[in-house]
Amino acid sequence: MLANSTESYGLVSKMVHWAIALCIIFLIWLGWWMVDLSFYSRYYYAAPNLHKALGIVVFAVAALKLIWHAVSRPPPLQADLKPLEKLGARVVHTILLVSMFVIPVTGYLQTTVKGEGVSMFGLFEIPALYRSSEWLRDVSIDVHAWFSYALIAIVALHAGAALKHQFIDKKQTLRRIL
Ligand code: HEM
Repeated sequence: MLANSTESYGLVSKMVHWAIALCIIFLIWLGWWMVDLSFYSRYYYAAPNLHKALGIVVFAVAALKLIWHAVSRPPPLQADLKPLEKLGARVVHTILLVSMFVIPVTGYLQTTVKGEGVSMFGLFEIPALYRSSEWLRDVSIDVHAWFSYALIAIVALHAGAALKHQFIDKKQTLRRIL
């Protein structure tokens, strides 16, 4: 079933969820690895180019996910969760969603400081819509790195909670997104 139901996520939401998850994990590793590349590395230009293009894809897919969830409402949190678990889930989901926009936007802003656009896998270019100032670039670099590394803890919490609910509490939490 493509659309979401009141019990489970549909195929579209499941694919979007796992595609974004894999891309984000890969991008955190790629970002961490590429910042220390030497100028003489063969990946010196290729790695940041791939990182930026894939990051823009995450932004676009996250925007589509929001639109899709307005069209096809996701299932509500399971009714038998404790109030504190529900609050925790909502906070973690909101941070994850906000990060999918904040991280790509701050990446884009640090790139566009010199008026540089982003090449999308060499197929076309996203122009520098806003030529950011040095100050905004510095803030963007910090926010980009902090949000990305904090995301490792948030993703671990999110995955850990899903595994606990599925295997310890014997709820269908993980199954409904698989
Ligand atoms: C969800 C998407 C993204 C994630 C998870 C992510 C993650 C990261 C991480 C972990 C770093 C290393 C930070 C550090 O150690 O200083 C990094 C660096 C960087 N990212 Fe991203 N990024 C994403 C999207 C983007 C986008 C869309 C762009 C640009 C269009 C971008 C541009 C950059 C640049 C230019 C750097 C290197 C900064 C430097 O050389 O110091 N990122 N990213």
